[in-house]
Amino acid sequence: MTAHTASATFDPSAFWAAPARDYRSSARLHLQHFLCQRTVGHLLSPKPPQEDSSPLRVADLGCGNGAWLSNLHDEFVKTGVSGIQLDGYDINSVHFPAPEFLPSAICLKQLDVLQPPEPELTGVYDVVHVRAFASTLAQTGVAPLLTTVLALLKPGGYFQWEEAKVDKFLIESPADDISSEACTAISQLLKPGQDAARGPHHDCAFVDRLDQVVLDHGFDDVLLKAFPLNRKQDYRAWTEDFLTVWGQLADTFPPRAQAPFAPTTREGYLALFRRAVAETERGVAIHVGKVTTVVCRKAV
Ligand SMILES: C[S@@+](CC[C@H](N)C(=O)[O-])C[C@H]1O[C@@H](n2cnc3c(N)ncnc32)[C@H](O)[C@@H]1O
Repeated sequence: MTAHTASATFDPSAFWAAPARDYRSSARLHLQHFLCQRTVGHLLSPKPPQEDSSPLRVADLGCGNGAWLSNLHDEFVKTGVSGIQLDGYDINSVHFPAPEFLPSAICLKQLDVLQPPEPELTGVYDVVHVRAFASTLAQTGVAPLLTTVLALLKPGGYFQWEEAKVDKFLIESPADDISSEACTAISQLLKPGQDAARGPHHDCAFVDRLDQVVLDHGFDDVLLKAFPLNRKQDYRAWTEDFLTVWGQLADTFPPRAQAPFAPTTREGYLALFRRAVAETERGVAIHVGKVTTVVCRKAV
């Protein structure tokens, strides 16, 4: 099998922002939301204080289908917090539920959060939240995102950022006699730095140092936490989550007819992927080990 080296065309930023993401991508985001919540155990911590009579304004950047905001809305309602405005921003509106089916306090809008925000959005948010955005930062690094976060926040406002290192999958076989060879081969294939021709790599090493990253951008009161994936009963669902992504990556490899000498053709990748799926059906797990969060504040 020659599928251990990569093709020339994969760009993680473009992959995650592609307008072609469909209902399967959204279903995966719902699953990922549920898994992150089970791992981290809270939506926002600390709970933002509502200091005056004006509505508490929360922005979720790269909000996907708005699952996190919708859940946060329920939690606010359950705990009697009223006067809230929850705004989700995403470059791609394809996953947005119809506004008619959302609570009136939730508003989802199309926006490129890596561009400076409009003046009317400057300094208006009490809380800004970002989750699972690391892959999108492959081309730009963290600076444009953090510049936007700082612009959106009120002085003293909170920023909560949650990431997992999705460039380094952990492959766990339940028993020595159950092979995880194909899953391991795909995880190696997708690692940053495996092939210089692969384009910008989404090296997520910075996720372990999110505290230093936000300190370097001028945030205060920084608290980093790592939440290990202790619930092995959730491994199956994490595996399904990542298999969905791995399956979608097939399109980023060239068909053999177009590139017969490519180190990995689409056909080669698909054959490897089918073997990986068979391994997971025998119990092999694909996961990311932990979710890391950082909470910090914009200086007053
Ligand atoms: C991996 S998904 C995470 C979605 C959501 N945060 C969650 O945790 O369920 C990344 C999201 O970022 C969005 N995105 C990518 N580039 C963006 C950009 N420049 N501005 C706004 N959203 C972007 C994608 O469309 C996608 O919905």
